[in-house]
Formats: sequence, structure tokens, C-alpha cells
Amino acid sequence: MNKIAIKLPKTDLFFKAEEVDEYGKKALQARDILLQGSGKGNDFLGWTSLPETLDPAIVSSIKEDAKRIKASSQLFVVVGIGGSYLGARAVIEALQSELQSLDKNRNTPLVVYAGHTLSEDYCAQLLSVLDNYDYSVAVISKSGTTTEPAIAFRLIKKHIENKYGKEQARERIYAITDAEKGALHEIAIIEGYKRYVIPDNVGGRFSVLTPVGLLPIAAAGLDIDQLLAGARDMRKVCVEAPFAENPALQYAAIRNLLYSKGKKVEVLINFLPNLKYISEWWKQLYGESEGKENKGILPHSLSFTTDLHSMGQYVQEGERLLFETLVSVDGSHCHVDIPTDEKNLDKLNYLTSKTLTEINHCAETGTMIAHRNGGVPIVEIHIPEVTEYTLGQLIYMFEFACGVSGYMLGVNPFDQPGVEAYKKNMFALLGKPGFEELRKTLTEQ
Ligand code: PA5
Repeated sequence: MNKIAIKLPKTDLFFKAEEVDEYGKKALQARDILLQGSGKGNDFLGWTSLPETLDPAIVSSIKEDAKRIKASSQLFVVVGIGGSYLGARAVIEALQSELQSLDKNRNTPLVVYAGHTLSEDYCAQLLSVLDNYDYSVAVISKSGTTTEPAIAFRLIKKHIENKYGKEQARERIYAITDAEKGALHEIAIIEGYKRYVIPDNVGGRFSVLTPVGLLPIAAAGLDIDQLLAGARDMRKVCVEAPFAENPALQYAAIRNLLYSKGKKVEVLINFLPNLKYISEWWKQLYGESEGKENKGILPHSLSFTTDLHSMGQYVQEGERLLFETLVSVDGSHCHVDIPTDEKNLDKLNYLTSKTLTEINHCAETGTMIAHRNGGVPIVEIHIPEVTEYTLGQLIYMFEFACGVSGYMLGVNPFDQPGVEAYKKNMFALLGKPGFEELRKTLTEQ
């Protein structure tokens, strides 16, 4: 079945059935607030009606651009940070492992990232790689003023203009930003770049189902229609289904219930390394939405079995402040059989009747039982396989649950006032005009 299923921790082990009912009611109330737009941050609820409200003409235009990018480019550089790049990276890396970059037969552009770091070495290496490949660029920033992507784009703009000349470079640059304001908007208008708009009422971390995510995902050769179909189907469930059949409400309810029992850390776990950036995207979504007013579950992530050999000990026996949310994938796209070895020196012949996926599932089940017995509540989210469709479902489910969960916690899930503090200090230390007073205070500290 092409459907996401959720399994909650057993009642009486970590909480009582009545408590689940109580938090279920709270989740239903929070859903009403979200859908009626009567809660905090209600000017940022545009994502709730995506992908329904996405103009089909935009989707067609993205697909056309993806074709042009594929025809002209070996690399597609995505310049952005936080919500302006994590969603695209999550979907692309979930479906295209890092090893695909070595595939000599690949016929779609390889997506590389910039503007998510200020590392000089990374930028220098990227620019030197770009010397050797044909490439196009998407520069993505809602505010159009974020320092990291702005610096990266200044460097790449110069590089691409030197490489192709100003006219051809213009054809290779896509700007995704606000409809009217910000430096990037102004640059895009003056330079005549192809533009896509990030709707006013959609915040960065909720923007993967807009051109922010869709253009890079399509440019990577992935099926955005299927991604949107998955999100659309999950939206219907989230918006309409009762608590007992609604994975988003159940997830929001249970994480708040566990938080009330002192479980302050949630670890999103998977047994597939290609889901690493799904976890990174999820961490930003929940961390930035809920971590405020001295409240909020700390989102953390681990990729097993790799991290069982580094963090498994802590999860099993460390301080009992965490719960796990497992993203479990039933099937794999490929099969690898374990070969029989006549001498059996490594003593692995007992595994020869199994595929690696079966072995991985045994590791998963064994780990879950061990952690549960060690006092870790586990929420399980099962997906049949990793496809554009199931990722669309997962993304919408996590977004909807995040809105509901934030309202249950009593915060505004749609702002991020805390992100500004470091920026002001950085501007002051860099000598940006207008920050002279703060610079004085900082240098005295
Ligand atoms: O979720 C958010 O709003 C943030 O993470 C932003 O996406 C991030 O700070 C980048 O901002 P911008 O798109 O304005 O460059």
C-alpha cells in the first residue's frame, strides 16, 4: 500500500490511554485553530493549502526550465540556506544517493549547494569545480538579503559571467525570491533573470512545495507531479480525518504528551543513510518552529546502523530524556544477495538466504526492542518505499503536524525571532553601516 502509517508507543508503558485521548482532543482543537487561521502567526499559513493553491502554470514553467537546465548543464548549483535549500536537498538526496555523482551514465544534472556556509575552502573548491563543468544556478532567498547566499551568489555571478559572457549567463540564472522586495529581487529585475516568487504567506521552512523546492528537484530529474500528488493526498487526510486515522494529529499529540512527561529530546531515526537530509530538514522545521519562549523539544537525528556504533550506547543507557521517532521504510529499490562462501571463514553463511534489506530490517527490529526495553518511547512512521510520492506525503504530514504541535505547545510556530541575534552581532563585527553602537558594545565584552 502506498500509504504512510503511524504506530504509537504502547499505552501503560510510558503513558496511559486516557492521556492519549486528552492530547488527541488538544490536537483536534489545535487543528481547528490552524485551519481557521485564528492562531498566532496566521499571516504565514499559505503552506497549509499547498499544493492545491499552486498555479499549474508555475509547475509547467518549472518543468520547462528543468528541461533547459538538463540540456545545457552538468551541474545545477542551488544557492540558499535554511528553508531555502534544505527541503530540496532532502528530497534529492533521499532519491539520489551521493554515489550517483560517480555514475558515468547519469543523464541529469548533479545538484550541488552553495550559500549554506561561509567556509572559504568550500567556496574556493566549488568555484574551481565550476571551471570544469557546464552549469546553471538557482539563487533562492525569500528575504533576498541573507548574507550567506548573497555572498555565494556574488561569487558565482562573477564566475558564470566570466565563463559564458553576460548574455548567456543570464539564461542560466534563476532567482527565487519575494514578489516585490529585497536585494535579490532588485538584482533579478535589473539583470533580467527568470524569476519565481515565494508567496508572502509561506515561510522558508514551509516552502519546499513552492518553486523553492520544486525547481531544484525537477532540475535533478525527479518527478515533481508525484511529489505534489503525495502531498495533496496527505493534505486531505491531515485536514479531514479524525484523530484515529490522522498520522499528523497523532504525531503532534504524542510528542506533546511525551514532552509533558519530561522527554525533552526527540531523535528522528532512520536505517537508510539517504534519509539524512530528510532529518536535517525536519530538524529545522521543528527546531525553528517550536524552540522559543524557553520551550520546545530539542530535535536531534541519528542514522542507524551507522550511528549505533557511536550514539547507540547513549540512547540505550544514557539519561532518560529522549524519545525516538523512527522513519521506517519497508522496501528497497535494488536487491543485493549475500553470496555463499565455501570456506565460510567470516561465518556469514547463515545469512545467504537473506537480502541486505531483510538484514537491515532485523537490525531495525532488534534496535527498537532494545531501546524500548531501555526506557525509550518510540513513535514509528512507516513508509512503503522512498519515492517522490511518499516523500510528498511525509513532507506534508510533518509540516501539518508541526503547525498543530506548535499551537499545542502555545508558541507561534511561524516566526523565528531568535535567528536575528547572531546576524546583528555578525553585521556589527563586520562593520556594516548602521551597527556602530552594537560594535562598540561587542568589542567591550
Ligand atoms: O525558515 C526560515 O524562515 C529560515 O530558515 C529561512 O529559510 C533562512 O533563514 C533563509 O532565509 P532567506 O530565504 O530569506 O534567505
